[in-house]
Amino acid sequence: MAVLLVLLYAFFSASTAAFSAYTPFDPQDSFLIDCGAEKPATLLDGRAFKTEEQSKQFLQARDDIKVSVDKADDVPSPIYLSARIFVQDATYTFPLSRPGWHWVRLHFYPLNNNIFDLMKSTFSVNTDKYVLLHSFNVNNDTNYILKEYLLNITEPQFSIKFLPMKNSAAFINSIEVVSAPDELITDSANELSPVSEFSGLSKFAYQTMYRLNMGGPLITATNDTLGRTWTSDETYLKHRNLAKKVSVETTIVKYPEGLSPLIAPQTVYASAVEMANAQTSRPNFNVTWNFEADPSFGYVVRLHFCDIVSKALNNLYFDVYVNGKMAISDLDLSATLNGLAMAYYKDIVVNASLMSNGLSVQIGPSKLDSGDLNAILNGLEVLKISNSVDSLDGEFGVDGVEADGGSNRGTVAAVGFAMMFGAFVGLGAMVIKWHKRPQDWQKRNSFSSWLLPLHAGDTSFMSSKNSLGSHKSNFYSSTLGLGRYFSLAELQEATKNFDANEVIGVGGFGNVYIGMIDDGTKVAVKRGNPQSEQGITEFQTEIQMLSKLRHRHLVSLIGYCDENSEMILVYEYMSNGPFRDHLYGKNLSPLSWKQRLEICIGSARGLHYLHTGTAQGIIHRDVKTTNILLDENLTAKVADFGLSKDTPMGQGHVSTAVKGSFGYLDPEYFRRQQLTDKSDVYSFGVVLLEALCARPAINPALPREQVNLADWAMQWKRKGLLDKIIDPLLVGSINPESMKKFAEAAEKCLAEHGVDRPTMGDVLWNLEYALQLQEAFSQGKAAEDETKSSATVCTSPAAADTTTTSDALPVYHAEEGNSNTPAQVQAIDEHSGTAMFAQFTNLNGR
Ligand SMILES: *[C@@H]1O[C@H](CO)[C@@H](O)[C@H](O)[C@H]1NC(C)=O
Ligand SMILES: *[C@@H]1O[C@H](CO)[C@@H](O)[C@H](O)[C@H]1NC(C)=O
Ligand SMILES: *[C@@H]1O[C@H](CO)[C@@H](O)[C@H](O)[C@H]1NC(C)=O
Ligand SMILES: *[C@@H]1O[C@H](CO)[C@@H](O)[C@H](O)[C@H]1NC(C)=O
Ligand SMILES: *[C@@H]1O[C@H](CO)[C@@H](O)[C@H](O)[C@H]1NC(C)=O
Ligand SMILES: *[C@@H]1O[C@H](CO)[C@@H](O)[C@H](O)[C@H]1NC(C)=O
Repeated sequence: MAVLLVLLYAFFSASTAAFSAYTPFDPQDSFLIDCGAEKPATLLDGRAFKTEEQSKQFLQARDDIKVSVDKADDVPSPIYLSARIFVQDATYTFPLSRPGWHWVRLHFYPLNNNIFDLMKSTFSVNTDKYVLLHSFNVNNDTNYILKEYLLNITEPQFSIKFLPMKNSAAFINSIEVVSAPDELITDSANELSPVSEFSGLSKFAYQTMYRLNMGGPLITATNDTLGRTWTSDETYLKHRNLAKKVSVETTIVKYPEGLSPLIAPQTVYASAVEMANAQTSRPNFNVTWNFEADPSFGYVVRLHFCDIVSKALNNLYFDVYVNGKMAISDLDLSATLNGLAMAYYKDIVVNASLMSNGLSVQIGPSKLDSGDLNAILNGLEVLKISNSVDSLDGEFGVDGVEADGGSNRGTVAAVGFAMMFGAFVGLGAMVIKWHKRPQDWQKRNSFSSWLLPLHAGDTSFMSSKNSLGSHKSNFYSSTLGLGRYFSLAELQEATKNFDANEVIGVGGFGNVYIGMIDDGTKVAVKRGNPQSEQGITEFQTEIQMLSKLRHRHLVSLIGYCDENSEMILVYEYMSNGPFRDHLYGKNLSPLSWKQRLEICIGSARGLHYLHTGTAQGIIHRDVKTTNILLDENLTAKVADFGLSKDTPMGQGHVSTAVKGSFGYLDPEYFRRQQLTDKSDVYSFGVVLLEALCARPAINPALPREQVNLADWAMQWKRKGLLDKIIDPLLVGSINPESMKKFAEAAEKCLAEHGVDRPTMGDVLWNLEYALQLQEAFSQGKAAEDETKSSATVCTSPAAADTTTTSDALPVYHAEEGNSNTPAQVQAIDEHSGTAMFAQFTNLNGR
C-alpha cells in the first residue's frame, strides 16, 4: 500500500508545475537589535543581533538605562538577557531600502533589576502611522512576550516610539525590523456571512495573534525561513478526544505554482488534525478550536490545508466554519489543486461585528453524502486587522483620534467599492479590443454551443487543420495530460458506428451519442461535425484546458479522439439528463422543492468553481437548464463550459465566440458586449426562476407580457405576489420563507447591471440558507402531521386565489411542441446554436 501511495503522489505531482525547491528568503531590510546588550547575540538560525553600541545610531533617547542578566531559565534565546529602559519618550529610526511588507517583532521579558520593577511598567508603542501597543503592561507575566506585526511601510524612514505612562517606564529587550515577501498578503480573502469575496487586505496592518502547526511539532525561527514560530494547537482544542493527529514525511508536501515555503514551511503541511474515528463510523461532529481575541477588532484567519489523508482524488470534502458561520463549504482540495499532498491556504476575514464571543474555528464533514467523512486542518494563523484609525491596540490613533466604534467598517466598505471599480475599468480595455474584430465573432458563430470555445487563430488555425495525425496526438495525450486517448475504431464500436438511434443530444455542431466503453461504462460521445471550421490545434488546446477542470459539479471529460481529423470528446454519462426535462415538458415525475434546491446548489457550486477555482477564471457563457445535467442520484453537474476569460490579448488570441441563449442573456452583455462572470450570474437567475415556476425562460405561445420568464416573474416579485405564479405542484409543500430567500437570490442575480449582482459564492450561500429553511419547515411539518389529524393540510393563499387571478396566469407546463410555437423559436429552445445566432446577430445589428 505504501508503494502505491508513493506512486500516486508521484503521478499527481508530476501533472502540475510543482516546485518544492527550498529557496531561503533574503530580506532586503534586516535590522536585528539586542537592546542593552554588550556582546553580539547569534541565534541558532544564524541571525546575528546587534549590540547596544552597534545600534546606537538608530536610537534617540534622553535616558541611558541598560540592564542585563547572565542567564534566565525560561527564555529561548540570548536576546532576552538584556533590556533598555526608558523613563522618557524614546525613538528608534531605521532607514529602509525597500518599501512594502515588513515584520516588526518586539521582544519583552521583564528582567529582575534594581532600577525599575518592569512588572509595573506601563507604556505605549507607536510607529509614525500605527498604534502597536496601548497602555501595555506585562500583567505580572514572568514569561517572555513576543509581539509580531506585519506592516506595509511606504516611507524610507521607519520609526518605533516608546512612550512610558506618567511615573512609569517603558522597556524593550530586542527589536526586529525585517522585509517580508510581498506575496505573504494577497489582496483578497473570503468574507463570512454571507460568504463573499473580500478585497483590500493590503490596505491594513496586522498583528499575529496565533500561529499554529496543527497536529505537529513546535516550529521555531530556526526551521522557518521567515523566522516565524508555529506552536502546537492542542491547548486550543475544545474536545481533544474528537481530534486525531496525522503526519507524513515532510518531503511529500508539494507547493503548487505560486506558493512556496514562504507561505508556510513543509513541516506545517506535513501534519494535520483530522476527525477522530473518521474511518470507522459515520462521524457527525466538528473539531473545534477556541481562541481569545479582542472583540473590537476584525481578524484575518489564514487556514492552511494539505490533503495528506486521502488515498485518491476527489474523496475528501469538508466544511470549515469560523465563529459558527460557514467559511468554506465542501472544500475539495484535490479538485482545487489537481493532486494530493499539495499546499493550499485560504484567508477568511472576520468582521468585528461577529467577534462578541472570541474566535472559534471548526472543521466537519460536508453535507454532501459522498467520499470519506473526514475533515482536516494543517495550520492556522490569526491576524488582527488594524482599525479605522490605524490602531492595533485600543481605539485611539497615533494622533489621539478615536475609532468609529472600534472597528474598521467604513474603511472596508470604501475599499470594496474601489476594487469593484477597478475591475470595471479593466474590462473596458477588453471590450474595445473586442469591437475591433467583429468579423471574428461572426465567423465563429457556428461553434457557439459546442463546448469548444474558440481562439481566433485566423490563418494559422486554418493551415493547421489537417496537419496533425493521430500518432502525434498520442504523444500529446501522454505528455500533456489530455485525458484518455480513444481510437476512432473504439468509439465506433462504443456507439454502434455512430448509429442514429444512439443519439441523445443534437447541437448545431454535431451530435451527442450514448456509448459503452470497454468495461461497460456508459459515456456520452460528442462528435464534431466534420464540416465545422474548428481546428485541430484549437481542439487540443481546449481539451488540455478542460481536462484540468475537475469538480464534483462539472461534467467530467474522460478522453478524446482526433484520428482522421475527427474531433470527438468523451464525457461521463449523466443518466437523468437535463434539469429542464424534470421541470416541464417531459412528464417526468416532479421534483420536490428540496430536490430542486439541491440541484440549484450543486450547479451554483460548479459555476462558482469555474469562476474562482482556476487561476485564469472561466465564464460559462451559456448557463441554462439544458446545460445542467443530472446523474443517477440527481446530482447536478454543469456541462458545456469551456471558455477562459483570461485569454492573452494582442497575440491574435481573442476570445470572441459569442454564446448565450434567448431568455438567459445578460442584458448588459447584450448591449455592451461586456462579458464578465456576472453574465453567468444573470443566466443563473433565470435558471432559478425556471426551477420555481416550472416553465421555459421564453415561451412565445404565451401572451406577450408573459413570454419572458425573467421579466414576468420580476413583475410579480415586485408586487410581492410571486407565490401566485410558482409551480402549482409546489404549493403547500414549499416553505414561504425558503421561497422568499430563493426569490431574493434570483432577483439579485437579475439586477440590470453586473456590478449590482452577487457573486456565485453569494448566491450559493443564499440557496443554502433557503435549503435550511425548507428542511426546518419539513421537519416541523412532519412532526405537526403526526400530532394533528390529517384533515388540516396546509393550504397556501396562492392555491385559494388561483381562480380570481387565472386570467393573468400562464399555461403551466406549456409543451414545447405547442402548435402555436413558431418553428424557429422552437429550435432556439432546443439550444440549437445556428438558429439562435441568426437571431442574435440580427438583434445585435439593430
Ligand atoms: C503598500 O501600500 C502602498 C500604499 O498604500 C501600496 O501602493 C502598495 O502596493 C502596498 N504594497 C503592497 C506590497 O501591498
Ligand atoms: C501583580 O502582582 C502584584 C503583587 O503580587 C499585585 O499587587 C498587582 O495587583 C498585580 N498586577 C496585576 C496587573 O495583576
Ligand atoms: C529544525 O531544524 C533542525 C536543524 O536543521 C532539525 O534538526 C530539526 O529536526 C528541525 N525541526 C523540525 C521540527 O523540523
Ligand atoms: C459544525 O459547526 C457548525 C457551525 O457552528 C454547525 O452549524 C454545524 O451544525 C456543526 N456540525 C455538526 C455535525 O455538529
Ligand atoms: C462589518 O459588518 C458591518 C455590518 O454589520 C458592515 O457594514 C461592514 O462593512 C462589515 N465590515 C467588514 C470588514 O466586513
Ligand atoms: C449514487 O449513489 C450510490 C449510493 O450512494 C452510489 O453507490 C453511486 O456511486 C452513486 N452514483 C454516482 C454516479 O455517483
